[in-house]
Amino acid sequence: MRQLAVELRTRRMTLADLPGVMEIEKEAFTNPWSLEMVKKELTQEWSTVLLLEESTPWGWELRAFAIFWIVADEVHVLNVATHVASRQKGYGRKVMDEVIAIGRGRKCTIATLEVRRGNVPAITLYSRLGFRTVGMRPRYYADNQEDAVIMNMDL
Ligand SMILES: CC(C)(COP(=O)(O)OP(=O)(O)OC[C@H]1O[C@@H](n2cnc3c(N)ncnc32)[C@H](O)[C@@H]1OP(=O)(O)O)[C@@H](O)C(=O)NCCC(=O)NCCS
Repeated sequence: MRQLAVELRTRRMTLADLPGVMEIEKEAFTNPWSLEMVKKELTQEWSTVLLLEESTPWGWELRAFAIFWIVADEVHVLNVATHVASRQKGYGRKVMDEVIAIGRGRKCTIATLEVRRGNVPAITLYSRLGFRTVGMRPRYYADNQEDAVIMNMDL
């Protein structure tokens, strides 16, 4: 894993962060979440939208985010994305490390997620973190009939 020699911080998203999050979301996915969907997450007490920001001479800049739910003792990761200009520099790993740390802090015992079978960057990221494939949902994604890989990690 590459080391980020920069100053980073994580914090929870607020309404003011919507434009930045939507910019990353739209570039990252063929079927991005709508603004309303992201906004709704801010109102649900089981949901967290976690931002990873980097200190620059111009202030803190958003590099990546993760959306996850904590339900009972499970962390459900719903969405992770890194700004397209900042990929493969360790930001995705960093924001997911924090998701896992928060889950552990909340006494969760497992983290779970679904990912498109062909999404090599995401599957590599999750595997490196310690997630393991535990199942498959055939033709789960309606847009292209792609299978979903279910990945879990004991916390
Ligand atoms: C998946 C995603 C979040 C990864 O973010 P990132 O910031 O580029 O990831 P990192 O730099 O932290 O890399 C994490 C690991 O994944 C690997 N990885 C990242 N991109 C990769 C790629 N394109 N091909 C192969 N491996 C890749 C890295 O090498 C690294 O492994 P290492 O720790 O052994 O070095 C990013 O590619 C993205 O935003 N994709 C579009 C949105 C998406 O598909 N999200 C997941 C939905 S389930």
